[in-house]
Amino acid sequence: MDQVVDKALRGAVALGVRNIRHWTDKTFSFQCERPPSFRFRSGEFVMIGLIVDGKPLLRAYSIASPAWDETLEFYSIKVQDGPLTSRLQHLTAGDQIVMRPKPVGTLVHDALTPGKRLFLFSTGTGIAPFASVIRDPETYDKFEQVVLTHTCRETGELAYGQDLVAGIRSHEFLPEIVGDKLTHIATTTRQASAAMGRMTDWIRDGRLAAATGGPLDQGSDRVMICGSMDMLKDHKAICEELGFVEGSNSEPGQFVIEKAFVD
Ligand code: A2P
Repeated sequence: MDQVVDKALRGAVALGVRNIRHWTDKTFSFQCERPPSFRFRSGEFVMIGLIVDGKPLLRAYSIASPAWDETLEFYSIKVQDGPLTSRLQHLTAGDQIVMRPKPVGTLVHDALTPGKRLFLFSTGTGIAPFASVIRDPETYDKFEQVVLTHTCRETGELAYGQDLVAGIRSHEFLPEIVGDKLTHIATTTRQASAAMGRMTDWIRDGRLAAATGGPLDQGSDRVMICGSMDMLKDHKAICEELGFVEGSNSEPGQFVIEKAFVD
C-alpha cells in the first residue's frame, strides 16, 4: 500500500472484496476478507467505505455474516447520487474497501433480557444485521422460536432473505442447530406476492399472531427492529403500547432498534 493511502486510512484497514452479487437494480451484497484479529458480536455494525480523493469516505454498515464466519458480508442499497453507494456498487472482485475495525450496535443479544420467542422485524436492507443474528448458534441457545420478517416494496427485493434462509437450511452444520425454530415471513407492499402488507399491519390485525402461534407478549417475547426511520417509529410505538421496554447494551430490555443505513 502506498504511503498516501496508508495515511488516509487513519486506523482503518484495507480489505479485499469478493463474491459481489447484484440482487436488484437497488441492492447488492459483497464479501471481504476478515482480519484475523477482528472480533464482533452478531448484529453489530462497522464503518466501511472507500478512499476518495485521498480521504476515507465511510458509512455505517451492519455486518451480515455471523460472528463465527471467516469472511465479512455486507448488504447494501444503491443510491444513484449517494456519496458512497454510487461508487461502492461498482466494486469488482479483487478491489479493496476500507473498514474501521470498531464494531458497535444494539441489535445484539447483550441488549435483550431472556425470553422465549425472538422477533426480528426488518424492511429493505434492514435485514442485514438479522442475516448475522439468524446464523448465530447463540440465538437458538437463547430462544425457542425465532421469527424473521422482511418487508419490501417488490418481490425481487425479497431474494436476498430467501437465499439466506435457503442457505441455512442446506448448510453443513446450521440445520442441526436451527432445527424447526426459525420462521421466515417475507411480504411485499407494492407488488402482488403470496404474502402482502406492512408488518405493523400484520401485528395489529392478528396475521402475525396467526402465523407464529400467538400475539406479541412482553413477558415471553423479545424484539429487534431494523429499517427506515418511519418504520422504526411505528414498530417502536406498537412495542411500547404492548408494554415492552427498550433495551441497550448497558441496560438490557425487551426490544431494541437500529436504523438501516442508507446513502
Ligand atoms: P410501503 O410500500 O407501504 O411504504 P422504503 O423503501 O420506503 O424504506 O420501504 C421499504 C418497505 O418498508 C416497504 O414495503 C414499505 O411499505 C415498508 N414501510 C415503510 N414505512 C413503514 C412503516 N412506517 N411501517 C412499516 N412498514 C413500512
